[in-house]
Amino acid sequence: MSEAPGSHARTLVTAALPYANYKPHLGHVAGVYLPADIYTRYLRLLGEDALLVCGSDDHGVPITISAQAEEVTPEEITAKYRAVQREVFDGLGIEFDVYSGTSISPPHRELAQEFFTRIHERGDIEAKDTEQFFCGSCDRFLPDRYVEGTCPRCGSEGARGDQCDACGNGFEQTELGAPRCATCGSAPEARTTRHWFFRLDHYEEQLREWLEGREGWRENVRNFALGVVKGGLPGRSITRDLTWGVPVPLEEAAGKVLYVWFDAPIGYLSFTREWAEAQGDPEAWRPYWQAPDTRIVHFLGKDNIIFHAVIWPAMLMAHGEYQLPAEIPANEYLNFAGEKFSKSRGVGVWVDEILALYPADRVRYYLAAIAPEGKDANFSWEEFVQRNNDELSDVVGNLGHRVLTFTGKYYDGAVPPGGAGGELMTELLPTIAEHRDRWRSALGRYRLREALGVAVDLARVGNRAFDAAEPWKRRKEDPERCGRDLAALLELVRAVAGLLSPFIPESAARLWAAFGEGGAGPTPGEIAGLGRDTLEAGTPLAPPGIIFPRLELAEE
Ligand code: 2FM
Ligand code: ZN
Repeated sequence: MSEAPGSHARTLVTAALPYANYKPHLGHVAGVYLPADIYTRYLRLLGEDALLVCGSDDHGVPITISAQAEEVTPEEITAKYRAVQREVFDGLGIEFDVYSGTSISPPHRELAQEFFTRIHERGDIEAKDTEQFFCGSCDRFLPDRYVEGTCPRCGSEGARGDQCDACGNGFEQTELGAPRCATCGSAPEARTTRHWFFRLDHYEEQLREWLEGREGWRENVRNFALGVVKGGLPGRSITRDLTWGVPVPLEEAAGKVLYVWFDAPIGYLSFTREWAEAQGDPEAWRPYWQAPDTRIVHFLGKDNIIFHAVIWPAMLMAHGEYQLPAEIPANEYLNFAGEKFSKSRGVGVWVDEILALYPADRVRYYLAAIAPEGKDANFSWEEFVQRNNDELSDVVGNLGHRVLTFTGKYYDGAVPPGGAGGELMTELLPTIAEHRDRWRSALGRYRLREALGVAVDLARVGNRAFDAAEPWKRRKEDPERCGRDLAALLELVRAVAGLLSPFIPESAARLWAAFGEGGAGPTPGEIAGLGRDTLEAGTPLAPPGIIFPRLELAEE
């Protein structure tokens, strides 16, 4: 995968819009929101122009069903969960440049309608009278997950009207086996109603060529999308018999709205425009979407691949004015003690729950260390405590503490002289630079686990070098040499803080501040400079105390 290629001028990073009917749990965070935040922080540390946009997915049946269940309006439920989501992300230090919602973002309705109109005018949308399930006892049509049944592709039970979660395939609801109304359980009858279909088949060739050219994409994303395209793309219904959503911009479609999956990805664009307005520069969104030297990177979970790697690109091809996604780093799932997270079954860990017990950076650390890249990962409380203790407390914290307190005590709390050109400095500087390069390469390939491992590995190198230098002995035998060794180790500790900063920004900034550089963490110039000796002799040090106290397993 492209290693943050030099050919682009800016990156728009998006994280899949969560439906505005739930509080995100650690599974959502680990696969989508935390990687997007870490990646954006990394780009900024390289001095790149990057924007991170997200917000809630407010429309569609998931929302109306939840509103019905909670006996509130769709407006109320989306406002409630949007606020909950903002709080969860804030609590974890996940910093979006904008967090809006598709039902409240001012430009959204018009943009979604404009997409429809444009694609319609090109002849890529056709109207058809279709058979849809209608529930006689509920007196309504049953779009999407209002109807359930057996998946026509894989045979799983509990498939919804629009998609099967077990196999990830999409289909028309009348293909479902043994359909039943999700609200009342009755068997629905088929009735005729008119809907509008996006002729994806018009884009098969173009999509295939485009996907084949995406060398370096994760294989799960590219192969899955190519398989879908090669299997043939039937027209997909993009309208629904619902009142909640973006009205279909056609007179003859009065009372119908756009399918939520048609308007949702357009939210990325609406929110970028909203961000630009808030900057006081309403045109500032354009380069992120339209310039040939922009890169659009969509973070999402594997269940969203088909929409982002097939349907959304086809919409963009049909629209014609925006850039296609450059990268789609889709992640697998995080499970809890071997089981899928499930609110209804009470399986999993919610963010407010863990943040009441542990600091955000310890959560970020563990989730990045086990990021579900390539295969599902598993959360366990024991491992959460153990990895934090073994790695952050015993390796990183211990190194920082030893080097800084020893220097503080015996070298007047300042960088000792003579480090430049010193024995250990000559040995360590190339190692620091090499670790920084490996870290940069791994993050450029969206390999969070690998990059985090490189940072911790550098701290291990530091601990071994400290042990080998035996400063507790050497300070008596050869205090100048000992001072030179410590100067080299200080460079290394500072580099570890720099490499950890996208992952655990708050605590890395505290460690970084030990070198008297303010609390804001490293700058791009400072990251680029790691591996050169930069700390001047005499620079006062401000040891931060214990940054990573050992964690105890909380009583359950
Ligand atoms: O699957 C989901 O949770 C959707 N709400 C994701 C939407 S992503 C984007 F396209 F908006
Ligand atoms: Zn019913």
